[in-house]
Amino acid sequence: MKVLVTGGLGFIGSHTVVELQAEGFEVVVVDNCSNADESVLDGIEAISGKRPLFEKLDLRKKNTVQNFFSKHPDISGVIHFSASKAVGESVEDPLLYYENNINALVYILQELQQRGNGRFIFSSSCTVYGQADTLPIKENAPVKPAESPYGNTKQIGEEIIRDVCHIAEDFNAISLRYFNPIGAHPSAEIGELPIGVPQNLVPFITQTAIGLRKELAVFGNDYPTVDGTCIRDYIHVVDLARAHVVALQRLMNAENADNYEVFNLGTGTGSSVLEVIESFERISGLKLNYRIAPRRPGDVVAAYADTEKANTVLGWKAQSSLDEAMRSAWRWEQKVKEQKTGNS
Ligand code: UFG
Repeated sequence: MKVLVTGGLGFIGSHTVVELQAEGFEVVVVDNCSNADESVLDGIEAISGKRPLFEKLDLRKKNTVQNFFSKHPDISGVIHFSASKAVGESVEDPLLYYENNINALVYILQELQQRGNGRFIFSSSCTVYGQADTLPIKENAPVKPAESPYGNTKQIGEEIIRDVCHIAEDFNAISLRYFNPIGAHPSAEIGELPIGVPQNLVPFITQTAIGLRKELAVFGNDYPTVDGTCIRDYIHVVDLARAHVVALQRLMNAENADNYEVFNLGTGTGSSVLEVIESFERISGLKLNYRIAPRRPGDVVAAYADTEKANTVLGWKAQSSLDEAMRSAWRWEQKVKEQKTGNS
């Protein structure tokens, strides 16, 4: 079974490629390398012993997408990761986000619809819920007006897919709404490689601890939570990657209850920013340099998943603890440093 993984050199994409290979899928990775490096293929090969097929392509061009599918008529499923994901940048340059995140999606769906029997897994985000009225968040919680163009592209993406499913009976799709993916492969062969200053909490913590950043700013400690800092549901990227394989198998085995389904992917447990820092200090034995800073605009107070649907319907459950995820993130940061020192 040949599977196309767009954005397969990225953080979640690369981990998913490894899990697909472990299940015997033949993977074709397409990436334009705008936010990822071809050397990720070495990491994947080091883990699985198998180098996936790779094509460096820009899927925002319709004829590129058409040519790709003509060349690979035997693709039996698509997992679509490629997208821009920096919330702040999306506010600065909304059209870039609509172009990157919507155009490729539409062109791929056109090909799948034309060919028939399309199976499609979409990277969505818990950002579609905004600040949910009820916690934990169930899949049927209302989708709130997007806080950023990035968030809007995820909502629009889901709607486009739902509309296609509505008219195309032999097209099946699943949107996976990720909570906060963190960590790295336990082998430390692949992990997250943020370009520039990390926007997300965990890479900022590990980069501070390794000496790349002076201190972590904790954005707000006056929220109505257990310790005043925001609550999120941090999920190990390997757990998240496995869910993609399970979702694809569900479509391949025609086990889906509807031709469009949505699942939350989280652990079901919320952790505060200070709890994440404590976890890091526990697993590393280090003291993290941090200070309390003003709130970051756009942050919701708390978000964590109700995982019952994913557990019972999809038959998937996150296995790793926060400490395990933090340990893998820290091991990865140390490995990145070793590589840089070795190369210089
Ligand atoms: N945080 C800090 N300091 C930092 C970075 C983050 O205190 O330097 C805090 C944030 O305020 C937040 C928590 O750590 O409370 C997590 O922040 P992240 O940036 O790691 O993740 P978000 O919850 O903001 O990200 C989620 C999704 C994204 C989505 C975003 C916006 O993972 O896909 O919400 O809705 F875009």
